[in-house]
Amino acid sequence: MYDITFKVEGGDEVVISANHGENLLELARKANVAIDAPCSGNGSCGKCRVRLIEGEVYSAITRHINDYDYYNGWRLACVAKVSGKAKLLVPDIAGAFKSRLRVTDLSSPLEMKIFNELQDAMRDTGLKFGSGFSTLTIELDEPTLDDTMPDNERLMRAVAAVLPEDGRELHLRYSLLKKLPEALRDNGFRIKCLLFTNRSSVRILDVCGVDEVAPVCGLAVDIGTTTVSALLVDLETGKILAKGSTGNGQIRYGADVINRIVEQQKPGGVERLRYAVVHESLLPLIHRMCDDSGIDKERISSVMLAGNTTMNHLLLGINADHLRREPYVPAFFRIPPVFTREVGIDLAPGARMAVAPNIGSYVGGDVTAGALASMIWNEPELSLLVDLGTNGEIVFGNNEFLMACACSAGPAFEGGDIKCGMRATDGAIEDCAIDGDTLEPTLNVIGGEKPVGLCGSGIIDVIAELFQCGAINGKGKFTREATRIVYDAEFGTGKYILATTTESATGREVYIDETDIDNFIRTKGAIFSAIMSLITPLGFTPEDIERVFVAGGIGSGINIKNAIRIGMFPALPEPRFHYIGNSSLSGAYAALVSRDAERKLTELARGITYVELSTQAGYMDEFIAACFLPHTDTSLFAAIE
Ligand code: FES
Repeated sequence: MYDITFKVEGGDEVVISANHGENLLELARKANVAIDAPCSGNGSCGKCRVRLIEGEVYSAITRHINDYDYYNGWRLACVAKVSGKAKLLVPDIAGAFKSRLRVTDLSSPLEMKIFNELQDAMRDTGLKFGSGFSTLTIELDEPTLDDTMPDNERLMRAVAAVLPEDGRELHLRYSLLKKLPEALRDNGFRIKCLLFTNRSSVRILDVCGVDEVAPVCGLAVDIGTTTVSALLVDLETGKILAKGSTGNGQIRYGADVINRIVEQQKPGGVERLRYAVVHESLLPLIHRMCDDSGIDKERISSVMLAGNTTMNHLLLGINADHLRREPYVPAFFRIPPVFTREVGIDLAPGARMAVAPNIGSYVGGDVTAGALASMIWNEPELSLLVDLGTNGEIVFGNNEFLMACACSAGPAFEGGDIKCGMRATDGAIEDCAIDGDTLEPTLNVIGGEKPVGLCGSGIIDVIAELFQCGAINGKGKFTREATRIVYDAEFGTGKYILATTTESATGREVYIDETDIDNFIRTKGAIFSAIMSLITPLGFTPEDIERVFVAGGIGSGINIKNAIRIGMFPALPEPRFHYIGNSSLSGAYAALVSRDAERKLTELARGITYVELSTQAGYMDEFIAACFLPHTDTSLFAAIE
């Protein structure tokens, strides 16, 4: 046995005994040391880099570590094995997650626009506002020697006197009784009551001082495979108090859902995956949003969660293994609300969490919520909703029919599988133009500082511009000579340097190479072929699509013309495209603040027809045909100038 020490950058050292030949990534997981591993250890992503600072490890040769880095001790943890005592420096991904935790500026015009339009659309479609939660300010008669009625009866009598007589029973819960005597007296018997009304009863959930701000709150949450996003909402008014997002802590077990399910099957895996998303992502996000808006988390009584089918299972601690095995059966499509404390989320006593119902094994509640928010179910126009996440999901139809499918787009839209890829946050190149003669780039970087990497919209632009300039061919291979194009001496493969070591924020080049471009061509091919596979069996052509709603964390800066140029979207006039942000989060918000919208969510999940592409004849042919810039059938893109 050898002592292996993991020294987390800027943090603690963890020592664990290991046998000769043990895999370093597995060993780190055993020691509860987080190493970024989007491909979950199959050696393809190159992100699980650790640095040997003392001792020795055996490491296979990998294209992800060049000679210079190898000489400086860098190894890939997933292909390295214990061969003696060693000490390794581990990049701090927990810290990186914390720095990805951000509360958004709600005054940004885009944020305002998306939610104002959603609220207008809800009104127009008759989805009445009303979460069932409300407040009632009430003044009670103070007890006297002649009036010794107990506090609970005194309160219930006063509340019953102002509620409509509609046969609903009034309840007051035990947890409130424990604080009621002091609350009444501290506030001079003038209090605000928090009520929850359903079909048969009214429950008094809590009481507080009459000046308390946002006394009853809710959370709308989108659990994405890569990112967790949430809104803190005043349930009485529907006002958004805070919006935030952070990385999904499960990402170190793999960037895609299949790798996570595989990890879940290992001993302790179910709890490990649940813990990672709840304790490393959701709870820090809730705390941060509550701190920023001055709201006690005990004020949060309701949570509406939307996520893909696998994420729902993993967060609830439910075995998702059967989702990846034929015939791909999930444990549930719909479940009744659960108490948040049952899944380790400690909010108001009795707080409940509803989960947006899934449509199919690979089309989850996030798509149901997105379909709700897009309102395509309410309009006669044939519309397409394209959610560009780690999985690409497509919904097609109108107020008469809706169909949905999922395709394995991979994490490229969110910066995964691309060496210099990153989420659409500060430092990300979100759009780019390239001079046709010199191939010099003009970059637009989020935050306005030097670039760190490329987000999804930036990747689309770079590939489209390189293709437009004739710097790459239809297969994504470099064909021109230029200062910023560098060819590998051994393999002849090219890369395009967007920012040199002195132009970047990190001192490392920001570039895109042929492998990245190839990955992205497969990603965009998956989206386009899924669209075609959904519409053509019904006898429709791309020209029949009247509106395209683009959703997802790809960034608002997506250049539709460039997305069409690379063959990701059908060649339709630009005005038909609308970017609607994180539609899953918008749908979760709608269902949180409107019981009507929540019911509509259930109706949609039942009514949308799920199409399983993997068993659909011709899908693979469509996909292969789409893995070219823009497509092997150029007539589909003849409309591009
Ligand atoms: S290369 Fe090691 S986890 Fe991906």
